[in-house]
Amino acid sequence: MENEPVKLLFVCLGNICRSPTAEGVMRHLVEEAGIADRFDLDSAGTGSWHIGDPPDRRSTAAAAARGIKLDGRARGVDGGDFEHFDLILAMDAYNLRDLQAIAPTDESEAKVKMLREFDPMSTPDDYDVPDPYYGGPDGFDHVIDLVEAACRGLLDDVLAGRAP
Ligand code: 4NP
Repeated sequence: MENEPVKLLFVCLGNICRSPTAEGVMRHLVEEAGIADRFDLDSAGTGSWHIGDPPDRRSTAAAAARGIKLDGRARGVDGGDFEHFDLILAMDAYNLRDLQAIAPTDESEAKVKMLREFDPMSTPDDYDVPDPYYGGPDGFDHVIDLVEAACRGLLDDVLAGRAP
């Protein structure tokens, strides 16, 4: 439908570090562009350990340092997500594999992509957003750099009609 928002789901393992960061960065970009009402953004995890938790405070701090707010509570990906969303954006190859395994139909599996495919500077051997959970603060900053480049590319593609 013409006025339907573009529905994007960002997915990582825990839904407390990378995917809430990607959601927050994308929301920041579309708000900055004055087009937030054209998007339906959410994030989810393939794992269930952190369901109900807020974003990791290290992710929240790294984002806040760049004026980006993270919110929401962790939830698991479910079958309805494959129905609802236009694109399901995996942060790494494990997330991609897990999403492909639970996609209920071929059509919904085709909605699953790596987020960094949309970074024009990235290459297929370098599509992962590395998991920062067990590392130091630099990892959280690096996540923002990677997801911001990819989200800018994704937004350009959406606005140009190349995605979803
Ligand atoms: P995320 O990071 O997938 O970017 O949210 C992780 C968070 C928690 C765990 C692993 C990764 N964990 O093993 O609890």
